[in-house]
Amino acid sequence: MMIYKVKSYEEMSKKAASIIASQIIIKPDSVLGLATGSSPVGTYQNLIELYKKGYIDFSRITSINLDEYKGLEPTNNQSYRYFMNNNLFDHVNIDKKATFVPDGLEMDSDKACGDYEKIIESYGGIDLQLLGIGRNGHIGFNEPGPAFIKDTHCTDLTQSTIDANKRFFASEEDVPHQAYSMGIGSIMKAKKILLIACGEDKADAMAKTINGPITPEVPASILQLHKDVVIIADEAALSKL
Ligand code: GLP
Repeated sequence: MMIYKVKSYEEMSKKAASIIASQIIIKPDSVLGLATGSSPVGTYQNLIELYKKGYIDFSRITSINLDEYKGLEPTNNQSYRYFMNNNLFDHVNIDKKATFVPDGLEMDSDKACGDYEKIIESYGGIDLQLLGIGRNGHIGFNEPGPAFIKDTHCTDLTQSTIDANKRFFASEEDVPHQAYSMGIGSIMKAKKILLIACGEDKADAMAKTINGPITPEVPASILQLHKDVVIIADEAALSKL
């Protein structure tokens, strides 16, 4: 693991965007695994700026997002499809048909997850996977549990995740209790992984991810087994190492 300790969210975002931009320049038809949450917003803003300045071109890029709430329609402003359109896709020249997010409206979980697996396979996996991290060490919506789940699956969100994510919703009752998430297998198959984290509420999860035992109780700890992981985090997030 290569760990960059940065001073601020802005510095983290700039560095993360530079790595993604390099990937796009080196391989213009890259498959990017993208993430949602507050962590990547600044990274996406930097990418939009780089695009507007003419440094990067998204026209041949494919994106495959990590996850989506089950039951939220794409037009719901809390859905991850809405988030991606709003924070990145609407501002760059990516072909929307080449952007994938699990289908939150498909209530048949087996179908939703099976379809997503086929999409991931058909593009030959992910070149660069961007990850945030949950306070409990989740990546995507791979929540702590008795085993790592390899493939795309429907997951019951833990109370910790519902508590963390309710700030985005009008009330806690509006937070969906289930989500579709790419599995640990697809994340680990990505050629390169970029994990970003900011703030003290991530310190516990980051310490366990980097130094703790590899356990499905801390899903991100499996990243210790990946050969090309770059972590960009601020001092607060790395304060418990
Ligand atoms: C959600 C997403 C994760 C994200 C996490 C942390 O649960 N499914 O992909 O990493 O939130 O979000 P934030 O960056 O807002 O702390």
